[in-house]
Amino acid sequence: MKKLFTCLLTVALLALASSLASAHDPSSGGSKNFLQVFVNGKFCKNPKLTTVDDFIFMGLDVPRNTLNQLGSNVTLVNMDMFPGLNTLGIALARVDYAPYGLNPPHIHPRATELLTVIEGTLLVGFVTSNPDNRLFTKVLNKGDIFVFPMGLIHFQFNIGETNSVAFSSLDSQNPGLITIANATFGSNPPINPYVLAKAFQLDKSVINYLQQKI
Ligand SMILES: *[C@@H]1O[C@H](CO)[C@@H](O)[C@H](O)[C@H]1NC(C)=O
Ligand SMILES: *[C@@H]1O[C@H](CO)[C@@H](O)[C@H](O)[C@H]1NC(C)=O
Repeated sequence: MKKLFTCLLTVALLALASSLASAHDPSSGGSKNFLQVFVNGKFCKNPKLTTVDDFIFMGLDVPRNTLNQLGSNVTLVNMDMFPGLNTLGIALARVDYAPYGLNPPHIHPRATELLTVIEGTLLVGFVTSNPDNRLFTKVLNKGDIFVFPMGLIHFQFNIGETNSVAFSSLDSQNPGLITIANATFGSNPPINPYVLAKAFQLDKSVINYLQQKI
């Protein structure tokens, strides 16, 4: 109830704060709740009209279809499909992996991720920022938990011959997602291939190939 009241108060303050608009989602500091609602949230429902259904999401027990190129399927539950998360700074994902399925290198710009393996064997890792770019990597089994710190490139690869399943909690109600391959080689419109050829020290024909494929 206190949260809901805070939420209403926040809405009242929105107009006042519109001049403080920020392009990113502040993730720490005393004003976290307020700013998250402003840049990364939604208007709140009238607390008198909320019901228990706003606070429940069902169906994450059902395995997802992994018949795609990567052999993985991420079911993200954020505030868009689960209104009760609004202002609470948390989201969840179920990830299904076919044998040798990959959740490819990606970034959540606004969230740290805590991944729990429910089934199978995953090779996971993240890479630290410049200048070291250290890879922290590990093979995880059922019951193991791994943390991917906010904003770092990370991945999970099912190295087992059976399906794998993991659940991830993320400390933002709208964590954001940048898939490295898609953002780099699949942007709309495409990045000038000379830029990518130079950046990756590759022949332009390889870049053209990647841009067509992705
Ligand atoms: C993930 O699974 C759902 C349900 O099984 C399916 O509708 C959806 O197309 C799948 N997504 C991908 C990317 O394969
Ligand atoms: C990345 O691009 C591929 C197409 O190459 C697409 O199938 C896939 O859904 C995209 N991934 C995400 C997370 O948007």
